[in-house]
Amino acid sequence: MRIIRVKNYEELSRAAANIISAQVILKPDCVLGLATGSSPVGTYQQLIKWYQKGDLDFSHVTSVNLDEYVGLNPDHDQSYHYFMHHNLFDSINIHPEKINLPDGCAKDMAAECRRYDTLLRTLGVDLQLLGLGNNGHIGFNEPDEEFSKGTHVVTLTESTLEANKRFFESIDDVPKTAISMGTYDIMQAKRVLMVASGKAKAEAVKAAFFGPITPHMPASILQFHKDFTLVADEDALSLL
Ligand code: F6R
Repeated sequence: MRIIRVKNYEELSRAAANIISAQVILKPDCVLGLATGSSPVGTYQQLIKWYQKGDLDFSHVTSVNLDEYVGLNPDHDQSYHYFMHHNLFDSINIHPEKINLPDGCAKDMAAECRRYDTLLRTLGVDLQLLGLGNNGHIGFNEPDEEFSKGTHVVTLTESTLEANKRFFESIDDVPKTAISMGTYDIMQAKRVLMVASGKAKAEAVKAAFFGPITPHMPASILQFHKDFTLVADEDALSLL
């Protein structure tokens, strides 16, 4: 485990974008595992800037996203499809057919989970970007009695509904379920990069990376990953 300590969100975004850029430059046809939420937005903005300057080329990159809300259409402005297009894909030259997200509107969710797992195992993720839930979740792998394995439908916890209500009109509008890559899937990525910013993440950072490895703190499993980098700002590291 490697921890890169930075001052603030701006530095965090640059550091994370540098690591992703290096991956794309070294292996132009790499598979990037991508995340949504507030944490990676600055990273995506930095990648877009470097792309616009001509320093980055995403035309051979394949992307796979971590998760999607169940029941939100891809064009719903809070769906993760929409988020990814709005915050990254529409501003870079990634090919639409190389973009992959789980389908939260699939009629048969069990079949969709199987489809996504097969896809993940066929592609093999080179670099997985993660945010960290205030409760320690990664993707939508919530605290539980055991670590999840493959792609699955998850019931979001109160803590996650509370944290994500800021994007919706009220907490009642936050979808109660999501489809997410499993913890096993995440651990199969060759490299994992997490970005954590702000005081709200401090408890989870301390518990996940300086406490016991337990499914009650899903991110703690990353202590076992052979190439895991945490980029965190001073606020997120303030309890250490
Ligand atoms: C997003 C995801 C989540 C978020 C986490 C942190 O695809 O899977 O695990 O990374 O909830 O969200 P933010 O960055 O909004 O604090």
